[in-house]
Amino acid sequence: MAERTSIDTILHESRIFPPPADFEQRIGGSYVTSLEAYRAMHRRSIEDPEGYWGEAARAFHWFRPWDRVLEWSLPDAKWFAGGRTNLCFNCVDRQVQGGHGEAPALIWEGEPASPSGYEIRRLTYAELMREVCRCANALKAMGVRRGDIVTIYMGMVPELAVAVLACARIGAPHSVIFGGFSAQAIADRVQDAQSRTIITCDGAWRRGHLVPLKANVDEGAAIAGGVTNVLVLRRCGNDVRMTPGRDRWWHEFVDDQPTDCPCEPMESEDMLFLLYTSGSTGKPKGIMHTTGGYMVYTAHTARTVFNLRPDRAQVFWCTADVGWVTGHSYIIYGVLPNRVPTLMYEGAPNFPEPDRFWDIVERHRVTQFYTAPTAIRAFMKWGDAWPRKHDLSSLIVLGSVGEPINPEAWMWYRETIGGGRCPIVDTWWQTETGGHMITPLPGATPTVPGSCTLPFFGVDAAIVDESGAELPHGKGGLLAIRRPWPGMLRGIHGDRERFIQTYFSRIPGMYFAGDGAHRDERGYFWILGRVDDVINVSGHRLGTMEVESALVSHPAVVEAAVVGMPHDIKGTGIAAFVTLEPHFAPSDDLRADLAKHVAKEIGAIAKPDVIRFTDALPKTRSGKIMRRLLRDVAAGADTGQDMTTLEDLSVLARLREGEE
Ligand code: WTA
Repeated sequence: MAERTSIDTILHESRIFPPPADFEQRIGGSYVTSLEAYRAMHRRSIEDPEGYWGEAARAFHWFRPWDRVLEWSLPDAKWFAGGRTNLCFNCVDRQVQGGHGEAPALIWEGEPASPSGYEIRRLTYAELMREVCRCANALKAMGVRRGDIVTIYMGMVPELAVAVLACARIGAPHSVIFGGFSAQAIADRVQDAQSRTIITCDGAWRRGHLVPLKANVDEGAAIAGGVTNVLVLRRCGNDVRMTPGRDRWWHEFVDDQPTDCPCEPMESEDMLFLLYTSGSTGKPKGIMHTTGGYMVYTAHTARTVFNLRPDRAQVFWCTADVGWVTGHSYIIYGVLPNRVPTLMYEGAPNFPEPDRFWDIVERHRVTQFYTAPTAIRAFMKWGDAWPRKHDLSSLIVLGSVGEPINPEAWMWYRETIGGGRCPIVDTWWQTETGGHMITPLPGATPTVPGSCTLPFFGVDAAIVDESGAELPHGKGGLLAIRRPWPGMLRGIHGDRERFIQTYFSRIPGMYFAGDGAHRDERGYFWILGRVDDVINVSGHRLGTMEVESALVSHPAVVEAAVVGMPHDIKGTGIAAFVTLEPHFAPSDDLRADLAKHVAKEIGAIAKPDVIRFTDALPKTRSGKIMRRLLRDVAAGADTGQDMTTLEDLSVLARLREGEE
């Protein structure tokens, strides 16, 4: 997709920003201080990955040391095999045992404003440990055993982090579902994971509205079947139906549990979590991450890329939801082992006013701030007056993730939020990669607006053609990773064939990311966007086919084709082309009804921005939908035809035949 980063943009971008002169002093010493140092370290990490990662892994607590750093037999990687560790231990217990029990671990701010201000909670490592132990004991008392998959569907409350860590503590992999997904989406994931336990909230606050999480769980569990335990945190106080024998209140059940619970020593390759994400085909797939490699990779990338320093008064804030991989890796798992407090905010960026984020940065003295381009573009639209009202001088590093950032948004971020003195780390990575893959290092890498710059240590990234041959600089191609890295996915839950097909078959011998990219003469990477049928809507990943399936499950729809289209704020919007059953007529009411239906089937994030009715979808002679043509139509591109009426796309199709 990536309509925003065209080759044209890349060729014309000549601005380059070295790390600011006072960065070293402001951050209190950076881990990598020059581009030369980066290059030397990167070379070493590629020549001797076992040496590099073995050293990185020694920074963690292991119950038993590993036998081998890496065993690799494509597509299967084993990192730190034979080693035993526990990620919750490394996040929490280790800090307490190291004498830092009273240091801040989690800072949380609720969305609603009350006359006395905002609700704020601060948990020290010792407090977090007690909460996690209680929750872990509650899970055990509910019958959850090591290896059982626990579904978590909550709002952004501290107990969400507690629940995630409690699962890790007892070796029960979690499957967190974003709170914006629908009952049907919960059912699909619960069923696929064969999960019997769900942790949820009565509701969640979002832009002043209540999202009925528990009601969605009830409906989802009814569709899925097999759910035997539901633990419910009271957050909003809305009425919920409690099913006797299945449902329990957190405040009644968890709060009474003992505050000590030993950490289960996990095999390095034991599953830590499942996270469902969209692909080109079929239903969302459960990406499997394991314990040791993911732990080392996320904490090591977080430390290096954000320059986390426990010896300085830093506050790290990632604005993602824990329901996405960014929240898993850079709100919880990557940050806590580095002993820098992680800030969690419950709600929307514009509640009650469009300066809420900047207000939070000012009040909590946030030092590293990590958000998505879609948010940055929304802030630009709301106007500079909002950030200008606040003292943002605490900020030292600014991060971007989730989609290509257009140079205009990059510059605004740098100047208006960063005051021209904060390096921007534009981090390219994926649910599948576990952590950052291509990214600047703030004290070392000169940055260029729109480029995610250079691969992280141990990452052997290349631009290749379909045969796997590396393309010369300046030529766009497929983004591939040639060697394993510790944070890589270990599979798709229950579907080995799909795992091999999706990631390791398209380019012989390499991991295929699904993105197109380009390298400039400096060797910097520029992500051009997905080359498959995945779209990034506001940085949220969706499969066009999922949206199509949702549309055709509506009684009025015969056929649907969904493509991405450029969108000022979302980056990519959703355009749907729909043909109707004969007894349904196109109307705005029907359009609204279809959008509602998609929200019900998947979630509000999947609602099409544009729905166009057409008599027939344009197809090639062999019956393939001509998606490129639809993308052009959706983008309003010049198709050589008057596109004001779309009744007969097949005419266009005939003109285009042979091109697709
Ligand atoms: C896109 C989110 C350009 C890319 C961490 C990738 C990006 C997909 C960037 C993964 C970036 C992520 N620049 N594109 N800095 N970061 N993407 O799994 O298309 O939700 O394949 O992981 O987001 O999305 P996912």
